Amino acid sequence: MTVSDIGVLVDTFCFPWTTQHEVTSKWTRYFEEHQKHIRTVYLLEKQKQLIGYASLLYTPEYSPFKQAKIPEIHDVLILESFRNQGYGKLLIRYLENIAHGKNYTKIGIGVGLYRDYGPAQALYCKLGYVPDGNGVTYKTAAAIPGTCYPIDDDLVLWLVKAL
Ligand SMILES: CC(C)(COP(=O)(O)OP(=O)(O)OC[C@H]1O[C@@H](n2cnc3c(N)ncnc32)[C@H](O)[C@@H]1OP(=O)(O)O)[C@@H](O)C(=O)NCCC(=O)NCCS
Repeated sequence: MTVSDIGVLVDTFCFPWTTQHEVTSKWTRYFEEHQKHIRTVYLLEKQKQLIGYASLLYTPEYSPFKQAKIPEIHDVLILESFRNQGYGKLLIRYLENIAHGKNYTKIGIGVGLYRDYGPAQALYCKLGYVPDGNGVTYKTAAAIPGTCYPIDDDLVLWLVKAL
């Protein structure tokens, strides 16, 4: 990712459930983190059109990954009209190869529990990701039995794969 990608990313990936301001802030933050090596942002282009993205976080917020030095694949998306053509799999495998090349022996990913995450859940299972054994988290803290949490993007199951 370079600074000149921010405008194209905002134009390409501004969805009805968000605002241009929020999307611009997100990509500006991602670029700053990319420069500081907090995250590496990978963009997927087809015939010079941006069709997807994903990041690798080397010091994830989720403490079991952070403590075990497991890099996290974060914020993966393929543009709707390009889904189910193998690009998601291609992107995840690319990030796995990058992590393997840096001598990591495991890689992790967090996935939401509600229906919109169904394709991602299926994809990660097919690629060999398994639950890390810590159950679900809400805002990265362990969910407590008997406590109510909204089923939203912050309710996450964490998966790992040996590289
Ligand atoms: C998840 C996502 C990145 C997958 O990208 P994609 O390019 O459509 O996935 P692929 O075409 O590479 O599919 C890979 C595998 O997942 C499976 N898969 C993909 N979409 C699926 C669906 N809707 N239902 C069931 N399985 C599905 C495919 O069957 C495929 O397996 P196969 O190779 O055995 O056929 C895409 O659906 C997406 O951007 N979703 C919205 C954002 C999101 O949920 N991101 C993940 C956050 S954790």
